[in-house]
Amino acid sequence: MVLGGCAVAEGEGEGEGEGEGEGESGPAFDDTFAIFSGGRCDGCHNADSFQGNLDLSTRDEAYAELVGVVASGPFCGQAPHTRVVAGDADASLLYQKVTFVMDCGLGMPEHEGPGPPGGGAEPLTDDELTILRDWINGGAADH
Ligand code: HEC
Repeated sequence: MVLGGCAVAEGEGEGEGEGEGEGESGPAFDDTFAIFSGGRCDGCHNADSFQGNLDLSTRDEAYAELVGVVASGPFCGQAPHTRVVAGDADASLLYQKVTFVMDCGLGMPEHEGPGPPGGGAEPLTDDELTILRDWINGGAADH
């Protein structure tokens, strides 16, 4: 339970242009999660097609499976990789994957392997990478 200045919006409200997330450090996870949805990541990373042992299909599940969680996919689970290291994007497997500098497995979104339904997804844009990096480096807060 988060106490403090920032009202936590509960519920399904799909806010657009959420603002800067003032009052807490770093951008909101909601902005990061928006990058994963729409089939780009969640086409492969969901409860049914549980590729990489990772479910990014809902906001809360994605957060719970990313932040501070040791990787458990077929290629990256062996080495000491953590999906999101709060405060350190460069050390985060998630960020390494979407910038294609990982030392294990494939870059994300994966589109070279035998992989519908999410195949063909576009790489993250510079703006999206900035959102993701700032969110992680800002502490990967759950807001
Ligand atoms: C076409 C299917 C597909 C899509 C689309 C896809 N992935 Fe993956 N992902 C995989 C597979 C398969 C693996 C496991 C192999 C590997 O690590 O390279 C994986 C592994 C991962 C891992 C490592 C998990 C672990 O614990 O080892 C992360 C993080 C990840 N994906 C993030 C993403 C993100 C973020 C996106 C969207 C930008 C995305 N993926 C899109 C198929 C996909």
